[in-house]
Amino acid sequence: MNRTLVICKPDAVERGLTGEIIARLERKGLTLVAAELRTLDRAAAEAHYGEHKGKGFYEDLLGFITRSPVMLLVVEGPIDTWQIVRTMMGATNPANAAPGTIRGDLATDTGENLVHGSDSAEAALREIGNFFPLLA
Ligand code: RTP
Ligand code: MG
Repeated sequence: MNRTLVICKPDAVERGLTGEIIARLERKGLTLVAAELRTLDRAAAEAHYGEHKGKGFYEDLLGFITRSPVMLLVVEGPIDTWQIVRTMMGATNPANAAPGTIRGDLATDTGENLVHGSDSAEAALREIGNFFPLLA
């Protein structure tokens, strides 16, 4: 089995869409291993999104992800579960996200695109360790 990190971002929690997102993951056949509502502080947000430091959208991204609680999920499935989740999420810009994907069906704004998913096997291990050290 194989695990990845999913974050239902503040907009998802605010809009009451965490159940919808979790239901989609479960219907796909993936299993929840951990789930926690948590408000991220700036340090946690910087550790998570460090790869984007220096980019034009970085400060907006940190402000957004820390503005209210997120739902952190560790999701388990077959090999390369991270890739299954990324496909289900759709493109970063919801305008380009295919119908049937979470972003394609439920979002309109790149800055408020509802979900994060690890983008490689290495990122999944690192991100699960960041947020759930006891699972690493
Ligand atoms: P995420 O990390 O949240 O799963 O999203 P992603 O892989 O699809 O996109 P990524 O390139 O990692 O960017 C992280 C988040 O930053 C915001 N962003 N804004 N204005 C822009 O050009 C821009 N580019 C990225 C998005 O909210 C994106 O999800
Ligand atoms: Mg990303």
